[in-house]
Amino acid sequence: VARLAQKLELTLGLVKPDVASKPEVVKAIREAIIKKNFYFANTRMLTLSQADAESFYGEHKGKFFFPELIAFMTSGPIFAHVLARDNAIKEWRALMGPTKPSQARKDAPQTLRAQFGTEDTFNAVHGSDSPMSAAREVGFYFPDFNVDEWFVKQEPAFA
Ligand code: TYD
Ligand code: MG
Repeated sequence: VARLAQKLELTLGLVKPDVASKPEVVKAIREAIIKKNFYFANTRMLTLSQADAESFYGEHKGKFFFPELIAFMTSGPIFAHVLARDNAIKEWRALMGPTKPSQARKDAPQTLRAQFGTEDTFNAVHGSDSPMSAAREVGFYFPDFNVDEWFVKQEPAFA
């Protein structure tokens, strides 16, 4: 039924520089994403400039971890994914796990941050935290991505 397509939600997922440079981890994360029934609506590889990173993480400007976060996020290539499924925003954050890998290893050992993150800033993956941030963040990495058109194109696949 075409209506099913309307249940899809989009979110922005990043594979951060600490793990984007490790092919076996990139593969493991990709497989975990597919296993959780996400579709890859769009993907690109890029390296953030200082200005890009400061803009993307603008909400954290002034916080103690901001300089380290920016240095980290500009340190090498990342993968940006637009992930689609029902309840994508919450489901992707659930798969990522808690922000701090040390806490994730205690509370949610199956999560990506528990398995592949190393410490506070170096936590392997990013995910949007609300519909508003998902819209902003998808637009940030994929300015030409026509979300409405994508949903329309998906519809036949769910008919
Ligand atoms: P935040 O948006 O709070 O976490 P999340 O990525 O889970 O949405 O913080 C953004 C990033 O900033 C986080 O992924 C890693 C880094 N960070 C630190 O390095 N130290 C900290 O204490 C916090 C809160 C975040
Ligand atoms: Mg956040």
